[in-house]
Amino acid sequence: MNRMGIIGAMIEEIELLEQSLAEKKTTEKAGTTFLEGTLHGLPVVVTKCGVGKVNAAMSTQILIDTFEVSAILFTGVAGAVDPRLGIGDIVISEDCMQHDMDVTALGFERGVIPFQEESVFKADRQLADLAYEKGKAVCQSPVWRGRILSGDQFIADKEQGRQLHAQLGGMCTEMEGAAVAQVCSLNKRPFVIIRSMSDRADGSAHENFAEFTKLASRHSFEMSAAIVQAL
Ligand code: ADE
Repeated sequence: MNRMGIIGAMIEEIELLEQSLAEKKTTEKAGTTFLEGTLHGLPVVVTKCGVGKVNAAMSTQILIDTFEVSAILFTGVAGAVDPRLGIGDIVISEDCMQHDMDVTALGFERGVIPFQEESVFKADRQLADLAYEKGKAVCQSPVWRGRILSGDQFIADKEQGRQLHAQLGGMCTEMEGAAVAQVCSLNKRPFVIIRSMSDRADGSAHENFAEFTKLASRHSFEMSAAIVQAL
């Protein structure tokens, strides 16, 4: 069966999707809830994976093995590190990389996973094109395409954010996307990550994080629904 897996890290990021599903069936696995159903008549499996790369990787592998999803869409918020981006802007993944993979002490470049073929994981071109097109159609905010960085750290320091952009070419930083990307690449499954900017990764996050998470979640929901409908 051709069905899409949709993942968010936090409940705010997927609750609108969950509410819109029809013919729902819930399955618990490894402490995580998977919700099967239909969105505009199309089969999807939605899950809240929890925060961080381990949670994201585990849920992605379960979606592939147990629910046999044909593609994965990850949706949520991120901190902007590219100075051109504003709060509320949307970034569609061209590719993803782990910024906290650091084996520089042994001579590997920052972000490079030792002894592994790939460290930069390319999103599916067709899904990314579709996400970009639908993003422009349903959101008022600017939509960008570029590199999404992930690490098990909430970045709240201007200099750290600047380095992520300068050294690794990231547009935004979050805590799950590259893990989903890596698992999808190893399993040869198409993926796309869609992130709305909730903060500037500079320490001002606490002031506007909750407010922009809500806006971002609405954008994410509208885009995901439009993408699934167009598949
Ligand atoms: N998600 C949203 N904002 C973030 C930030 N500044 N760092 C990591 N993950 C985020």
